[in-house]
Amino acid sequence: MSEREKNIVILISGGGSNMGAILRAAVRENWRDRLGARVAAVISNRAEAEGLALARGLGVVTQVLAHQGFESRAAFDAALQAMIDAHQPALVVLAGFMRILTPDFVAHYRGRLVNIHPSLLPAFTGLDTHSRALQAGCRVAGATVHQVTTELDQGQILAQAVVPVLLGDSAEALAARVLTQEHLLYPQAIKALLPTLSAG
Ligand code: GAR
Repeated sequence: MSEREKNIVILISGGGSNMGAILRAAVRENWRDRLGARVAAVISNRAEAEGLALARGLGVVTQVLAHQGFESRAAFDAALQAMIDAHQPALVVLAGFMRILTPDFVAHYRGRLVNIHPSLLPAFTGLDTHSRALQAGCRVAGATVHQVTTELDQGQILAQAVVPVLLGDSAEALAARVLTQEHLLYPQAIKALLPTLSAG
């Protein structure tokens, strides 16, 4: 591992389609030469996360830290932090990482921890964003990339994408439309952020 490179660590829990979009953009746009950045590792809290195979297929190191083995959230987060810090990250990217993080963990990565949330924040923090947007009669929906702070889904907004809500939309149809935009939004938001970060 080069200490001068900006190492990115991506955390996932499931399908990892956003992670895949970031990995592909990093290769396609040659982040290594152009931004001095590379994805050093993908870490999942679930061994069965489908995204792990996708990451390995794209040549990226994967690691699993199952949360069930820990007696407290703080103990898990401390172990996760140690696993992440072994990669000396410039940036930690939450990509469908479905865990609430402790304030200590969030403080440790202040300014270098980002998340994508499937709503137009500050609307619809938390879960079930698409059905709640439909229920509220929203005419547009979308996704937000934001800095992670101790307040759930409330850190500084870095980028947003908007999609229309169509007549008769189901939550699934809306989620799929938003996810397509997430795949464009998240890599570009990371690309814009990287020059402002120092190597870990
Ligand atoms: C994405 O829609 C992401 O915005 C959402 O989970 C999905 C993960 O999909 N994240 C959250 O809801 C975080 N609160 P992916 O694993 O295919 O990238």
